[in-house]
This record gives sequence, structure tokens and C-alpha cells, in this order.
Amino acid sequence: METHLTGITTTGTPHLGNYVGAIRPAIAASQRKDVQSFYFLADYHALIKNQDPATIRQSSLEIAATWLALGLDTSRSVFYRQSDVPEIPELTWILTTVTAKGLMNRSHAYKAAVDANEHAGYVDQDKGITMGLFSYPILMAADILMFKAHRVPVGKDQKQHVEMARDIAQRFNHIYGEQFVVPEADIGANTAILTGLDGRKMSKSYGNAIPLFAPAAQLRKLIMKIKTNSVEPGVPKETADSTLFETYRAFATPAETKVMAERYAAGAGWGDLKQELFAYLDAHLAAPRAEYERLMADPGHVEQVLKAGAVRARAMATPFLAAIRSAVGIGPLA
Ligand code: TRP
Repeated sequence: METHLTGITTTGTPHLGNYVGAIRPAIAASQRKDVQSFYFLADYHALIKNQDPATIRQSSLEIAATWLALGLDTSRSVFYRQSDVPEIPELTWILTTVTAKGLMNRSHAYKAAVDANEHAGYVDQDKGITMGLFSYPILMAADILMFKAHRVPVGKDQKQHVEMARDIAQRFNHIYGEQFVVPEADIGANTAILTGLDGRKMSKSYGNAIPLFAPAAQLRKLIMKIKTNSVEPGVPKETADSTLFETYRAFATPAETKVMAERYAAGAGWGDLKQELFAYLDAHLAAPRAEYERLMADPGHVEQVLKAGAVRARAMATPFLAAIRSAVGIGPLA
């Protein structure tokens, strides 16, 4: 059986782009009989990006409630919170001892931070860079290697991190014997990438995102803000490069998309097309949104689900970490 594993950093509210790019394919994969999936809230990773405790807590609840509301089957997949599995940070340290510093120096995220400092003219090129940011890929490697994941579905930006996990696994296996499965990144060439309100990729950090479970009135308001061109009603519209069309297509069936393309070709006005996108999304999101709101109002239940997931995760992590400790020579003397 193939094992798939992915983590979600708990620093924001899930948006439409997260849904079509990551959550929807993950939930679909979790329903496959030939796949064992692990999904978790990467809250220790979140601490690297955000030092506001209330945000970390709120985001953890929102992300968990979102996945559950969308129908993640937690009896099939293992759904847990990274910080509920103390074996993960413990494995992180062991991996740190075999990770080349030079490998971490090459991390895109770290190099981008150094570049930003150089651009800003700071003498200290490491200004403001924490060891957490620097060794972020080692914690991620521990997440992946702990559960012997074969495939790691991630966005392009995370590909290098999975490659580093491969490197680290191989290095460890070389020194201490075959313990880890060497994972592969799964970059999902066919998953949709949505454009945000300003025309750039939809991303929390650009502030251009539409929250997946925004209340209907807010959803409508945000859809009305999607950038279009100035082609008048009655004049045919291009579907290529239209964020509005692309968003519709990411949710609709191929048949519905074809009908919508005909509306564009027939010169429907942007105002009407926006209203139609809103009506479509609102109708499709209404049921999971109601469930999301129910779960958000019942954090105790969400907590229980996560705790049960952690019990299952630890049932694997505890014995595996014991084997790893023993392999490196840590453990009882007699
Ligand atoms: N770094 C990932 C991100 O920012 C989140 C993550 C943490 C992750 N641990 C992981 C993804 C393990 C895949 C596997 O998106």
C-alpha cells in the first residue's frame, strides 16, 4: 500500500486556491483504497512564520474544521496535529545530526531571506533569520520520514524541501542502515492554481485571497472585486486569462464549463458573469460552509478528532522512533 502524507502550516484561513490546489485532491486521494494517507496541521512549522499565539490557535481550528467539513474521512486517513506527536521533534534532532549545513544553506526559503537582507543593505545578511527558518526543512523531513511516506503531494514551492528529505533519509540510511523510506514529491501537474483578486497567484501572503467559507455576503463582495477587462456587455469575452472564468472552471464540471464559455463568447456582461460565479460557488459551498460553521462553534469536537488522530499517529511513531534511537545508539544500557 502506498503512503501519502502532507502537512498544512497553520498560519491562515483556507482560501479557494488552497481548496482546489491542495485540499480537494487530498480528500480525493484519501478515498482511494490503495492509498494510506496522513494529513496533519503543521503547527510547529507555523511558529516560524507567525509569532501571534491567537493566530496559530485560530488557524489550527479553521484548517481542521475545513478539512472535516469537506468530508475528510478520518477513519481511513490519519488526521492529526504535528505538536501532538512529540516523536516528530525528537526525530528532528536526530536528523539534524546527519544533515549537512551546506544543504540547508541552499534552501530557497533561506536564500530568499538572505537576498532580502542584502537588498535592504543590511551588513548582517542573516538579520532577523531564525534557526527555525534555517532548519525548517529538517522538521519537514521528520514529518515525512516518521510515517514512511512514499509520496508527498505539495505545491512547486515545496519541492525542494521534499528533495532535502530524500537527501537526509539517504544520508541516515547510509550511516545507520536502511530505516527510512526515501520519499518522492508529488507536484500535481493537473491541479488548478487560482489567480487572486489582484491578478497574482492567490495567496494569503499577497492579501488577494477569497476565503473558502466566507459568508455569502462577503463571498459576493469579493467576487465582485475580481479583476476583469473593460470589454462592454454585448461584446464577446475571452475566456483565456480570465480569472473569473478560471475560477468557475476550477469548480464546475466540464459540461458546465462549456456552457459558461458560450456565455462569454455571446458577450454576457462582466457584472452578470460575476453574479453567476457567485451563485454557483455559493450553491456548492453552502452545505460544507454550514458544517464548517457548526464545527467552528464546537472546538471541543474538533479537538477530540485531532486527539484520536494523534493516538493513531503515535501508534506508528512511538515504535519507529524506538527503532531509530536504537539504531543510533541511544537507549537503555541493559
Ligand atoms: N512546508 C509545508 C508548506 O508550507 C507544510 C509542511 C510541513 C509539509 N511539513 C510537511 C508538507 C510535510 C508536506 C510534508 O506548505
